[in-house]
Amino acid sequence: MAIKPILFEDGICRMIDQRLLPAEELWRDYRDDGAIAEAIRTMVVRGAPAIGIAAAYGAAFAAAALASQSLPVAERLHQFRQRCQHLAATRPTAVNLFWALARMERLAEATSALAPLDWAAGLRQEACRIDAEDELINRAMGRHGQALLSQQGTVLTHCNAGALATGGYGTALGVIRAAIEAGKQIDVVADETRPFWQGARLTAWELQRDGIDVTLICDNMAGYLMQQGRIDAVIVGADRISANGDVANKIGTYSVAVLAQAHGIPFYVAAPRSTIDLSLADGSAIPIEERDPREVTHCGNQQLAPAGVAVYNPAFDVTPARLVSAIITEVGVARADYRTQLAELMARPPLC
Ligand code: MRU
Repeated sequence: MAIKPILFEDGICRMIDQRLLPAEELWRDYRDDGAIAEAIRTMVVRGAPAIGIAAAYGAAFAAAALASQSLPVAERLHQFRQRCQHLAATRPTAVNLFWALARMERLAEATSALAPLDWAAGLRQEACRIDAEDELINRAMGRHGQALLSQQGTVLTHCNAGALATGGYGTALGVIRAAIEAGKQIDVVADETRPFWQGARLTAWELQRDGIDVTLICDNMAGYLMQQGRIDAVIVGADRISANGDVANKIGTYSVAVLAQAHGIPFYVAAPRSTIDLSLADGSAIPIEERDPREVTHCGNQQLAPAGVAVYNPAFDVTPARLVSAIITEVGVARADYRTQLAELMARPPLC
């Protein structure tokens, strides 16, 4: 059973602190939206679908707090939107965060005439639905994506697009899980993913835990392995995909895509439709988060670089659609021309 990084039990949201893995498996309890916003910002929880789910629980806590005050409906909704904005201001790149909050806000408006406690209960149920649907979506994505993999092979992945990054099962790693469940012999090469080490700390931990064959490499080793013919396919997740199929994902993904093309290796992206942002014509409009220079100058508490050195730390990059062999979603697989095929997939009815 793959790990589920966010649990909602007895009115408490429990999240495994992903900053501490693999050294420590610590679950933290959350009971209010402010603390959840901080958990997203500081990456206790990370990965595009997972931060959307966490934000939805945050919005549900905000609704519960507001329902216990005797506020006029318009004021309750106003304050609910403000608290959702606070949750949205945590990380800018993954559109799933804004997608989940927009879904919560739509329901809050549509049900605002209910008694406050019923209104809040409905929003709590909606957050649980967003969470549960995500795993079903990932399993459907896995079924579509695994068909692209051969009976036997080695798949390279970057960052962590696994169960830890989602409501369970994973996107890119979900495709790998589904291929293995279909009887294929797949082993994984995981890029360590500097500077936050999602590959070394999280992908290696998650796959090893689930008995999936994984080999860890430094980011700068990927080209050498490809040159040696040791990689059959690349599969990554995504944080935001624009209408033309450009893909924002963890910094370093673009380099892997260029290498894959140079070596004639397919480069696949697995992402739910909540990651696709048709409002952006191309990837140049995707906001790229910049994070603390300390992530680059330090490894944990160990200083690696001279104090005061200039640092640039973009957390994501954008892979142009021309380097993407296919985008795997829960309702099917898109290929170029992405503008047409993504629009067609987005128009299909919801899976759940
Ligand atoms: O900074 P992170 O760890 O939140 O970045 C995560 C990624 O870039 C993942 O590849 C992406 O969110 C897809 S997760 C299914």
